[in-house]
Amino acid sequence: MDSILVTGNGPLNGDIPIAGAKNACLTLMPATLLSEEPLTLTNAPRLSDIRTMTLLLQSLGAEVTALQEGKVLAMSSHNLTSQRAEYDIVRKMRASILVLGPLLARFGYAEVSLPGGCAIGARPVDLHLKAMEAMGAEMELRDGYVHAKAPSGGLRGGEFEFPFVSVGATENALMAATLAKGTTVLKNAAREPEIVDLAECLQKMGAQIEGAGTSTLTIQGVDRLGGATHGVVTDRIELGTYMLAPAICGGEVTCLGGRISLLEAFCEKLDAAGISVEETEKGLKVACRNGRVKAVDVTTEPFPGFPTDLQAQMMALMCTAEGTSVLEEKIFENRFMHAPELMRMGAKIDVQGGHATVTGVERLKGAPVMATDLRASVSLILAGLAAEGETMVNRVYHLDRGYENVEEKLGALGAKIERVQGQ
Ligand code: EPU
Repeated sequence: MDSILVTGNGPLNGDIPIAGAKNACLTLMPATLLSEEPLTLTNAPRLSDIRTMTLLLQSLGAEVTALQEGKVLAMSSHNLTSQRAEYDIVRKMRASILVLGPLLARFGYAEVSLPGGCAIGARPVDLHLKAMEAMGAEMELRDGYVHAKAPSGGLRGGEFEFPFVSVGATENALMAATLAKGTTVLKNAAREPEIVDLAECLQKMGAQIEGAGTSTLTIQGVDRLGGATHGVVTDRIELGTYMLAPAICGGEVTCLGGRISLLEAFCEKLDAAGISVEETEKGLKVACRNGRVKAVDVTTEPFPGFPTDLQAQMMALMCTAEGTSVLEEKIFENRFMHAPELMRMGAKIDVQGGHATVTGVERLKGAPVMATDLRASVSLILAGLAAEGETMVNRVYHLDRGYENVEEKLGALGAKIERVQGQ
């Protein structure tokens, strides 16, 4: 297994390209299953999770061709051969559950292995199933698989109010509803930019959707969807992660293609911490205003709140801030696994349930650390960039799921970072 060796060596400067969003791409790809006609995605990120979704779609008989070094994904589902998503692929990536809605809507039947829990929490899929039950589907859990069946004549429009916001369940229900007979209303729907991106792509395919970006989605089902070409929205989590690099190390970095509207709550916290963020034609220019970063409190929430996917990285920043900050995690029950690793680098963190209290120290010290999930891995890299000495981040396969060429991108800003090949 590869590791990443980071040596703290001062300010970072320059431009950094931001890729298309992993989490948008992972829901746009299954949308191909809704139509016989081709769906082409541009600005796709080159990540192992995208390769896993490619394998899953191919296992169903879809054609998926990566062009331009993986930046373009040409897909076609005119000749699907299976409606069963096997455990061997689903267990590698929870987003596999997103094939359920499209398969059920188009074929009236689907079998998808139940994804297990993961490092950040139990992560059930009950809301995905309930939303589709509201469209008339029958769900049976058997042999570790969800067996989903639509009524004869196909899914029918229904109304469903999510008891709490779920990004994946909203995506699954939205895709399923595009081909249901009649009108579907989804209340308390997720409002993430990835949902808006999915809705835009589905609209290009001929879907009738109103309210994307608000908490009520109204979908008028159509008989069939056509093909489309769609550019994947900018990855706001990669954007926020790299915005934190100059915040932690000093210097001035422009994140190309970044927009404040993708990360308003996060930018407000950076401002309060003493980091300047300026939107320019090229993207977001980030610099430390002066002196040491100030401690700020953070609570994770669904969009437009502070994203849970930036909590670990923000904690890395708070480790050397002036004062004490409280980070509250409200989306996942077990998302502080980076805290003990940061403590190995000299951070002062006290975790109690869903709260982490971080007392800033002057400087962290390099240490060997272990990555437990994707965002935890990158938080350790950020911490390593600012630490004294060497930090070896082990188990970086998590990182490759969500960040392309992290060593190259940070290296181009002047960071001392290299990949150490595993045995
Ligand atoms: N939940 C349920 N039942 C459900 C669905 C969700 O109880 O049927 C719970 C979850 O366990 C969690 C909360 O609801 O406590 C919110 O989960 P959500 O469904 O919104 O998350 P997700 O769709 O599984 C996506 C991203 C995550 C991101 C979350 C929250 C993808 C592929 N994944 O997950 O991304 O953290 O939304 O914004 O879109 C990451 O990229 O590192 C990552 C984990």
